[in-house]
Amino acid sequence: CGIVGYVGPRQSQAILLAGLSRLEYRGYDSAGIAVIDADGDLEMRKRSGKLKVLRDDLLAHPMQDGTTGIGHTRWATHGGPTDANAHPHLADDDKLAVIHNGIIENFSELKAELLSEGYTFRSETDTEVSAVLLGREYRASAGDLVAAFRAVAARLEGAFTLLAMHEEHPGLVVGARRNSPLVIGLGEGENFLGSDVAAFVEHTRNALAIGQDQIVAITPSGVEVTDFDGNSVEVEPFEVLWDASAADKGGWSSFMAKEVSEEPEAVANTIRGRVRDGQIVVPELDGLDELFTSITRIIVVACGTAAYAGLVGKYAIEQWARVPVDVELAHEFRYRDPVIGPDTLVVSISQSGETMDTLMAVKYARERGAKTLSICNTQGATIPRESDAIVYTHAGPEVAVASTKAFVAQITALYLFGLHLGRVRGSLPETEAAEHVRELEAIPTKIQQILDREQSRIDQFAHWMADTRSVLFLGRHVGYPIALEGALKLKELAYIHAEGFAAGELKHGPIALIEPGQPVFVIVPSPRESAELHKKVVSNIQEIRARGARVIVIAEEGDAAVLPFADEVLRIPLAGPLFEPLLAVVPLHIFAMGLSTAKGLDVDQPRNLAKSVTVE
Ligand code: G6P
Repeated sequence: CGIVGYVGPRQSQAILLAGLSRLEYRGYDSAGIAVIDADGDLEMRKRSGKLKVLRDDLLAHPMQDGTTGIGHTRWATHGGPTDANAHPHLADDDKLAVIHNGIIENFSELKAELLSEGYTFRSETDTEVSAVLLGREYRASAGDLVAAFRAVAARLEGAFTLLAMHEEHPGLVVGARRNSPLVIGLGEGENFLGSDVAAFVEHTRNALAIGQDQIVAITPSGVEVTDFDGNSVEVEPFEVLWDASAADKGGWSSFMAKEVSEEPEAVANTIRGRVRDGQIVVPELDGLDELFTSITRIIVVACGTAAYAGLVGKYAIEQWARVPVDVELAHEFRYRDPVIGPDTLVVSISQSGETMDTLMAVKYARERGAKTLSICNTQGATIPRESDAIVYTHAGPEVAVASTKAFVAQITALYLFGLHLGRVRGSLPETEAAEHVRELEAIPTKIQQILDREQSRIDQFAHWMADTRSVLFLGRHVGYPIALEGALKLKELAYIHAEGFAAGELKHGPIALIEPGQPVFVIVPSPRESAELHKKVVSNIQEIRARGARVIVIAEEGDAAVLPFADEVLRIPLAGPLFEPLLAVVPLHIFAMGLSTAKGLDVDQPRNLAKSVTVE
C-alpha cells in the first residue's frame, strides 16, 4: 500500500492526490484521503478501484479542503477491495482517521476485546481495529494523540505503517512504523510523510529515514521522532537524488515504455563513478576487504525479477571471484534452517528495498551471524538500512509494477560487485578485469541499438501474437535466467501462461508440451564466445522445430546458423558471454509490453499485483 501525509500552509487535497499517484504502483485496489477542513471538521472520501475513481468522484462531488491531510492507495490483504474496506478508517465519532500499510497479526484478538466493550465496526479490515483502538486510547489519555498512538503501537503485532490525525489537533499528523516503510519529507513551513520519497519528491528533496519501531509527529514547523516508549531518537537525514520529473510519464504511453527506454541509462548510471583507470572502484565497499576475503560462500536472496538478476549474477561472481553462490527465493530461505554463519555473505537484491519476504530473509541472516550486503534502488528504504553494506543501483524511480530498468541495473551492480570481489580475493587478473569493465561500459550503447533497431518490429510481432495462449522460453547458462524473466514478464503483463526452461532440460520433460504452432523463444549464446553451448542450443531448436514449434530466436548479429530453423530472429549486438543477458532481456521486455498492449491491458498496473509487496 502507499501512504502520504501532509501538514503545512497549503490546501492538501491536491498534494495528497499527486503523492498517491506517484505511489499508486504500491497498490491500486482502492484509494482514499482525509483532511481537516477550514472549519476544523474531518472530511473523508474513499473509493474502491484505481486512484482515478477517487479523483473523478472528488471532481464530481467536491469535498471541503484543508491544510492537514492523509491519503492511501491500497493493495488488499484483509477484506476485499470495497469502498468500506478502503482507507482511511474513522473512529472516535468520525473525528479520527487512520491509514495503514502492512498486516496486524493480532487483530482478531484486539477486535474481540473492543467488541466486548461495545465498539462497532464498519469494515472487515485489521486497520479499522487499530483506528478504534486509537480512539479508545485517545479518550483514555485525555486527548493526547501522540501518547495514544504510542499506546496503540505497543499493542500491535505484525508489520505496520500507521498514520493518524484527529480533528481536535489540526496541523498534526502522527505516524508509526514497524517492518513497513515510512520516510519524512522536510519542507519550509510544511512537512510530509510517505511510504517512499516519491510521495513528496516534487516538494522537497530533504528527507529523514525513520527507524524500526519509531513514532513520528509532524507539524508545519517541526518533526519529532521517538521510540515506542516516547524516548527521543536521532534520525538520519538524506538528500533525495531522484529528480521529481524522473517519476513522471513524460510523453510516453506508459511508465513501462518509458522505463524500458531508460534501460541504457540505468546501466550507465549504475556504473558511473565506479570505474577508475579501467578498474572497478566501489567506494561503498571500501574497508570490507577482510570480510570479502574471509567469506566462503554467498547466498543471494530476492523475489521475482530481482531473484532472476541474482541468478545471472551467480555465473559472473563464481567465475570471477571463485566463491560459491547460491540464489534463493527470500521467502523459502529462512524457513528451512539454512547452513549459514559468519563466513556467509547474504546478498539481498530489491528494487524497492521494502519487499517484506526479502527483508525478513536479511534479518534472519543477520540473526544467524551472516554478513549482509544490499543491492537496492531506493534510498532510505528498509532493507539497505538493515544491511552491513549497500551498493545502490541508480536506475531512478521505477513506477511500472513489472521491473525492467531495475533488472538491468541489478545485474550491473552484481557485476560491479563480482569484479570488486575478484580483485580483492586475487582471483581475477587485472587485465581480464579491465576487459570485463570495457564490456560493461559498452552495454548502454548496445541496449540503445536494440531499442532503435528492433523495437517497432518486436511490437508488431507481439500484436500478431495477441491471441496466443501459451509461450515457452528456453535458455542455457546465463540465458536460462533470462528465459525465466521472459516468462515472468508475460505472466505479469499479458496474463498468458508462460514457462521458462533450461534448454538442456527440454528433453527431460518440457518437450512434451511442444505441439504444432507452440511459440517458443530461444535465447541463443554467441557462436564466437561459446561455440560448444551454441551448438547445443541449435540442436535444441531443431528438436522443437521438428515437432512443429514456432521458433523465435534471440541471437547475436551475424549468427547465421540459426536462420534455417527460426521463424523469427531478433538480433542483439555482439557481447562477451556473461554480458549477453543484459542485451537478450531487452527484446523480451519489449515483447511482453507489446503483447499486453495488444490485448488492451494496463501495462503499468497489472491485475492483482503490487510493485512493492510489504507483507509476507
Ligand atoms: C513484486 C513485483 C515484482 C518484483 C518483486 C520484487 O512481486 O511485482 O515485479 O520483481 O516484487 O521486488 P523488489 O522491490 O524487492 O525488487
